[in-house]
Amino acid sequence: MPDVVISNEGPVRKIRMNRPEKKNALTLAMYEAMAAAIEEAGSTDGVRCVLIAGAPEVFCAGNDLNDFVTMARSGGLGAPIIRFLHALARCQKPMVAAVSGAAVGVGTTMLLHCDQVIAADNAVLMTPFVSLGLLPEAGSSLIAPRLMGHARAFSLLVMGKPLTAEEAMGAGIVNTVVPAAELDAHALNVARDVAALPPESVTAARRLMRGSVDEIVARIDEEAEAFKARLASPEAQRALTTFLSRKR
Ligand code: COA
Repeated sequence: MPDVVISNEGPVRKIRMNRPEKKNALTLAMYEAMAAAIEEAGSTDGVRCVLIAGAPEVFCAGNDLNDFVTMARSGGLGAPIIRFLHALARCQKPMVAAVSGAAVGVGTTMLLHCDQVIAADNAVLMTPFVSLGLLPEAGSSLIAPRLMGHARAFSLLVMGKPLTAEEAMGAGIVNTVVPAAELDAHALNVARDVAALPPESVTAARRLMRGSVDEIVARIDEEAEAFKARLASPEAQRALTTFLSRKR
């Protein structure tokens, strides 16, 4: 099985992260595959909704931290990461996410681009960017305060306070919490409901509600520049080394 499984269920383009042995930590190849699937969904008439899912025990553990170490050495931030983040921001089709287990880092910030987020009752959203010596990405520094207010966004993005599924629903970034065993079916039903709506009207409504895509893309790029500098910092180096060399 590939690390990202793409399938179409009628008008729903399903993108499933599938690297459970590494808790769905995203490699550059995974970003590339997910970006291509989202971009292609945007330009395919038959696709009316994108559904992003993970594994039952984990949605996504964020960026592969080994890749962060490599990137810190090279001074870059992989082009596939930026391609994926731009694809999320620019996607013309509505996006639904099905979240089960941990959603860490970009596993949480990608949800801020989704139009509907269905969470299993075991879901936990967390962004330990700052404790890793890093900073928020994926446009989250712009979108999260808009969605949940500055104070709650600060707790999540800067203080790294995790949100349970119920708390994330209270903060307005999750629509519904369901038993884990019902997550896939429920999320697919939501995606089908969205896909059944008049597509041009959905696109137009969504565009108005999301505000300026260019502003979001510009923020993604600004965050990426700052992120590269943080990756090379002694604070980040220490934190990454600590995680990757831990004994269990
Ligand atoms: N990058 C690379 N490898 C990762 C990873 C990541 N982001 N997250 C998990 N893994 C790997 C672990 O190193 C481990 O690999 P190993 O079996 O070869 O030792 C494997 O996935 C299982 O992880 P483990 O930590 O044992 O699972 P867990 O259930 O105890 O905890 C998490 C799950 C997601 C809470 C924990 O793995 C974690 O905190 N990961 C890092 C998340 C993170 O900081 N992401 C970046 C945010 S910017």
